[in-house]
Amino acid sequence: LRLVVLISGGGSNLRALLERCEDPAFPAHVVAVGADRDAEGLVHADEFGVPSFLVPFGHYATREVWGAALLETIRTWAPDLVILSGFMRLLPAAVVDALAPALLNTHPAHLPEFPGAHGVRDALAAGATETGASVIVVDHGTDSGPILAQERVPVLPGDTEAALHDRIKPVERRLLADVILDIAEGRIDLEELA
Ligand code: GRF
Repeated sequence: LRLVVLISGGGSNLRALLERCEDPAFPAHVVAVGADRDAEGLVHADEFGVPSFLVPFGHYATREVWGAALLETIRTWAPDLVILSGFMRLLPAAVVDALAPALLNTHPAHLPEFPGAHGVRDALAAGATETGASVIVVDHGTDSGPILAQERVPVLPGDTEAALHDRIKPVERRLLADVILDIAEGRIDLEELA
């Protein structure tokens, strides 16, 4: 499977996927990494010799024009699957329509609990004793698409946002790799999804 991965930040989940793709038995490889800003995580693409591209949100007059430019760039890589991995922008409906259902996102909460940009912080603020990680198909909403995989992660007393997030990320990474494998080996058929 040809993967394009989009990031906005440190890209630790991207790095974990790049490492997994080094395994010749894993039936996917990252053909390009894209970002909406000069994300620190782009260095991981460089280290693994994977091409990267930047479509800076701030360089475009509207979200729609930015989205069209991003979609055009993504398409040049002919991906089988586009993965949002710490990508912190809402995609315009036209981009979702063009890519979905081959458009996945990982989220550091047990959706539909705690959607949005601060899922980890929100779980802590709510006093949750457990949260989770989820892999979904992106739809027009925010973290509201069909759930492909999810798993509970405990919240421990004294957890900071960073500590809890660091406990969630490895689960996100494992779930994402499992979903990619399930798609590559036909156990998940994205076209069947609503
Ligand atoms: C991940 O938990 C992702 O689900 C969330 O932000 C985090 C990104 O971490 N949206 P990183 O950039 O992969 O380190």
